[in-house]
Amino acid sequence: MGILDRIHLKTDSEIELIKQSSLLVGKTLGEVAKLIMPGVPLLYIDRIAEEFIRDHHGIPSFKGYNGYPGSLCLSVNDVVVHGIPDNTLLQEGDIVSVDCGAYLNGYHGDYCYTFAVGTISEEKRLLVERTKESLLHAIKVAVKGNTIGDVGHAVESYIKPFHYGVVRDLCGHGIGKNMHEKPDVPNYGKPGTGPKIVEGMVFCIEPMINLGTYQVKVDADQWTTRTVDGKPSAHFEHQVAITAKGTEVLSTYQYVEEVINQK
Ligand code: MF3
Ligand code: CO
Repeated sequence: MGILDRIHLKTDSEIELIKQSSLLVGKTLGEVAKLIMPGVPLLYIDRIAEEFIRDHHGIPSFKGYNGYPGSLCLSVNDVVVHGIPDNTLLQEGDIVSVDCGAYLNGYHGDYCYTFAVGTISEEKRLLVERTKESLLHAIKVAVKGNTIGDVGHAVESYIKPFHYGVVRDLCGHGIGKNMHEKPDVPNYGKPGTGPKIVEGMVFCIEPMINLGTYQVKVDADQWTTRTVDGKPSAHFEHQVAITAKGTEVLSTYQYVEEVINQK
């Protein structure tokens, strides 16, 4: 069993450090939020985010990870995750998931927010709102004594009545000194199954929800992951820690929301 196969439990001081990394991600997403408007090139957003992370003594976690070229994953419309920033311009009516990772003081922060570009269709608005809501439901059951299966089940059961596709090929993950650690955190599952949630766990929960089918395919670039039917997809991610005091959400949308609420 390799070192990454075990679940690394964190001390309170490690969790404090992870929270700092997560905070830097939150502030970076706040900077990105200011740029979300029609006509802005994805590569420009990526550059601003990278500069912001480096200016705050962090390293973009994604850059160079298995050869990934960007600092952010910018996934527009039918792109589910891992969209590589290029010269594409944001357009009115797009939805774009911005996934950001920052490495600071030896630990990774990693989370994601899906933005609306200008005015979006009602269909997309509901998809985004419900994806975010599914994450909040999952966080509620991510508590000591429950299991990782309970977390996945919370996403899946909340989404079911809307007949959206819950992506199965990708999942959330433990996080700490490495961006991807055990346990895997699927967005589906049976209650009471999977690893038990215990004190010291830190993991990312990240529902990826498609308007149409759950099925996805990867482009020739080996990264860009799209819905097979070309319908839009939304993605939200939070980072949680299980502590003696309970479940703490280390990530925050505060900086994003401050910007969005001013628009
Ligand atoms: N948030 C993404 C994940 O959890 C980040 C990986 S993007 C990569 O998998 F490019 F770094 F791989
Ligand atoms: Co992640």
